[in-house]
Amino acid sequence: MKIFLDTANLESIKKFNDMGLLDGITTNPSLMYKEGGNPKDAMEEITKIIKGDVSLEVLSTEYSGMVEEGKRLRQHGDNVVVKVPMTPDGLKACKSLSSEGIPVNVTLIFSANQALLAAKSGAKYVSPFIGRLDDVGQNGMELISEIKEIFSNYNFGTQILVASVRHPLHVVDAAKIGADVVTLPPGVLDKMMLHPLTKIGLGNFLADWEKMKSGNPDVKI
Ligand code: G3P
Repeated sequence: MKIFLDTANLESIKKFNDMGLLDGITTNPSLMYKEGGNPKDAMEEITKIIKGDVSLEVLSTEYSGMVEEGKRLRQHGDNVVVKVPMTPDGLKACKSLSSEGIPVNVTLIFSANQALLAAKSGAKYVSPFIGRLDDVGQNGMELISEIKEIFSNYNFGTQILVASVRHPLHVVDAAKIGADVVTLPPGVLDKMMLHPLTKIGLGNFLADWEKMKSGNPDVKI
């Protein structure tokens, strides 16, 4: 399963990229707003740091504007994936951009039918927002299972990019279902690394080493 980071924060991107964890980045206008500064500079920088796919979202809501913005966003790098909303115009833009070889991520997916239509339109990725479904009392992970089954039934090449991930258990469940990608807020990726027994175990190893050194101060590795 690929791991993308869901952020426009350069510090976090560099931090996790240095650990070799990142296969790509997803951004959206809210994440850009959160970081402040000039979003164009951030886009430029992110596409340079990350070799994998970087989703940058259009702001226009009508077809021709989306296509125009998509082409402009793509100038930031060959790894740019144009993110369009799941609307009729978004699907038309998806078809048009995909036909020209520009990869598209259809975002704000909340139903299996929406994912099916986005795949039909040629999307490289569909982004179901599971946390937001959980928020309104629907089971977000069930949607991932449904989409997985549908895409497998018809051998769609479209990848399932699990978005709106809120905690590490979402990641485990998405991986068990076989989702292609999870996009994670930095905080979730931080939590995935931790386990109390790792901390306790390391503390014990170091304490025992100190005890050994007290009997033999010259011991080294
Ligand atoms: O990738 C989509 C994500 O940014 C939305 O997450 O937590 O705002 O639902 P959230």
